[in-house]
Amino acid sequence: MNEETVTLPTCWKHFQQALDSGVNRVLLYGPPGTGKTYAGLRMGNVSAGAFRLICTEDMTNLDVTGGFLPASDGSFQWMYGAGIKAWNGDGMTGGRLVVDEIDKAGGDVEATLLSILDSEESAEWSHPETGQMFRPKPGFSAVMTTNIEDMEDLPPALTDRFPVKIRINEPHPDALERLSYDLRGIAKNLCDAGERRVSLRAFMTFDQMRKTIGTEDASKIIFGDRAESILDAMKIEAVA
Ligand SMILES: Nc1ncnc2c1ncn2[C@@H]1O[C@H](COP(=O)(O)OP(=O)(O)O)[C@@H](O)[C@H]1O
Ligand SMILES: [Mg+2]
Repeated sequence: MNEETVTLPTCWKHFQQALDSGVNRVLLYGPPGTGKTYAGLRMGNVSAGAFRLICTEDMTNLDVTGGFLPASDGSFQWMYGAGIKAWNGDGMTGGRLVVDEIDKAGGDVEATLLSILDSEESAEWSHPETGQMFRPKPGFSAVMTTNIEDMEDLPPALTDRFPVKIRINEPHPDALERLSYDLRGIAKNLCDAGERRVSLRAFMTFDQMRKTIGTEDASKIIFGDRAESILDAMKIEAVA
């Protein structure tokens, strides 16, 4: 990926540069569907594993650190959450924790995440049953993602742990490449177009459906009453 840095859009170049500099806390924000989660799971050194935590209102600390879960034989077994799994990584070095949709986490989980994402020197967690102490292994890194635009809307204690905050305003070029050539320009233009925004996922599905049912029908199903204007924009794009 390094040799590609020159051709990457600025936002993705900045992410790559942060990773190349050894920065191990990065917050990616901006419109959905640009590849933030994908990048969190795959970019940089993720050889010790990448563990995803999708934040929702109903999640609990069980998802972050762990807890007892029913096994198939009816007994309860301790299962580690994504945070501790990422701290431990492959056993030798720490892995990557991807905290998706951080703005959706409730207060309880937020507090636990604060300690999981604390600096290596201070971060520790003790297993409530065994008392075993855990610390992040060297190499542990974390990427948080959110669609929230204003970082002031996130808890300051949390954002303070992520000095590098990058607004992703363009789909990752590798994601665009999954689209047929004629759709790449418009998908790039509309991914961050405010009210007119159309996500990369919509274009991917359109691309797939039009092969079977044709452009007209596929566009009506995917783009609704905006179908005509989007098809027009595609024609202009094709001429340009
Ligand atoms: N670098 C990439 N290479 C290939 N596909 C990608 C890449 N980045 C994203 N995608 C695809 O694009 C879609 C949106 O990516 P995702 O990471 O979920 O976006 P976000 O987290 O910004 O909402 C997914 O289908 C994902 O598999
Ligand atoms: Mg995402």
